[in-house]
Amino acid sequence: MGVFSLWVVLGSPFAHADSDADKPSAVDRGRQALTSRSFLKPEWSLEIYEKVAELWGEDAPDPEADPEGYALAFARRYGLHPAPFPNDNLPMGLKRSTDPSTGRQGLQVDCLVCHGGSIGGQSFVGLGNSQLDMIGLYQDFFQADGRPIFFTGFTVNTVRGAVNAGQMAAVLISLRKPDLSRRLFPVLHGSKFPETDVPAWWNIKYKDTTYYDGRTDARSVRSNMQFMLGEKTREQFEELEPTFADILAYLNSIEAPEYPFPIDSELASRGRSIFQNQCAKCHGSYGDEPSYPNLIIELDRIGTDPARALAPSDLLVSHYNSTWFGEESPVDEVMTGYQAPPLEGVWATAPYLHNGSVPTLDHLLDSSSRPDRFRRPPSTDFKHYDTDRVGWRVEVLDPVSPEAANRDQDRSIFDASRYGLGNQGHTFGDGLSPSERRAVIEYLKTL
Ligand code: HEC
Ligand code: HEC
Repeated sequence: MGVFSLWVVLGSPFAHADSDADKPSAVDRGRQALTSRSFLKPEWSLEIYEKVAELWGEDAPDPEADPEGYALAFARRYGLHPAPFPNDNLPMGLKRSTDPSTGRQGLQVDCLVCHGGSIGGQSFVGLGNSQLDMIGLYQDFFQADGRPIFFTGFTVNTVRGAVNAGQMAAVLISLRKPDLSRRLFPVLHGSKFPETDVPAWWNIKYKDTTYYDGRTDARSVRSNMQFMLGEKTREQFEELEPTFADILAYLNSIEAPEYPFPIDSELASRGRSIFQNQCAKCHGSYGDEPSYPNLIIELDRIGTDPARALAPSDLLVSHYNSTWFGEESPVDEVMTGYQAPPLEGVWATAPYLHNGSVPTLDHLLDSSSRPDRFRRPPSTDFKHYDTDRVGWRVEVLDPVSPEAANRDQDRSIFDASRYGLGNQGHTFGDGLSPSERRAVIEYLKTL
């Protein structure tokens, strides 16, 4: 891929530099690095993209004769989306990568496997991927590559759209010493992170603290580099730090997409005053004079599933803080609960709560109506989107139905009884009358 054709799509980095005419801005450099570079060595052979279909046990479209049909079938199976930037005809989240020592080319995943999502079939960098089946992808790719069964020792995801990034990071850091040289035996930190939803990147520009528990400084560049702990040395981390500062500048520039359907502005303005009275103290105000209080709400007050907040053990936090990652911006040693997130673009980020346990805003604002077991939609097409309740139309499953009993084989099934996936808490909408709730939901569409 020529550098020039990349610019045509992403916009020339020079076009945005306002003061220094020949210098691309940090935002442009960050976007370029995030979308065009692979930071990890290849994990799989290049052929795996086509070879993996041999495992599907169904009539897969021929990748040579029908590359578009194949791309669609591939994307649906693993929950990936078309790349809205040049990507060697690979879906967003997969990248061609080269091993610098051998020159061997292969495939790898990148940030966008989790942080590249779609809504209404349109892809967005920075929208959490609500379709991803991370463990399905890894298991199939390892098997098709003729490698031993992929085994992590912890649950990556029981359901599509959820992923256990926390435990991955905890395992990787436990294998390093404070100077990042490798330990022979892991630090036995005892943390057990659950799978979670993936937060949207367009809200981090408002945040002082980040991650669901709000215990990390949002300006920390290094915290975003943890995913490279599988292979990089300290020197390599230091060399890449300026690039990740650019990537963070780019993440801070991303805007939420606008709600694409008509909005009843009278109803929304009624909703706005209810929101200002009952919700803004935690979630902030929007519009002409925006403000965001950056509050972390105590676990017993918010009442949502506690597993994610309780996951990092004190030993894990102190170990992380003793390393290169923590020395610049240490993780807060005090656990409080969950950060009340900014709500821009919230129409596009269903399912809701940190664990994706609530399919729509209507369910979120009426806690007794939330389904405990449901089947997530097979795509982000708008035919699965509910503009009244705002979020995904899901098939609610009876606990004794054959489908629900089969849940371990079917990762389209969400089950709130699993570890970390409880759908309780956040009862702040329960006191609203049905018409007030309608109004608040209408207002949330405008954010
Ligand atoms: C395996 C999936 C996955 C990958 C890959 C991944 N992330 Fe994340 N990311 C998550 C999840 C899940 C969270 C929420 C974690 C939590 O708080 O428990 C998150 C949180 C974040 C946050 C904080 C957002 C907020 O509002 O609190 C940032 C920033 C971020 N990731 C950046 C990145 C960057 C940059 C990369 C690539 C270098 C990356 N992530 C790779 C899944 C992933
Ligand atoms: C006491 C503080 C507080 C109040 C009041 C409050 N919230 Fe929240 N809200 C939170 C916290 C904390 C979370 C994250 C909880 C979690 O993920 O476990 C949250 C999550 C949400 C989410 C899900 C966001 C997402 O991306 O998943 C929405 C939507 C929301 N709140 C809307 C509202 C509305 C509307 C009101 C007013 C009726 C309201 N909240 C009142 C603290 C509050």
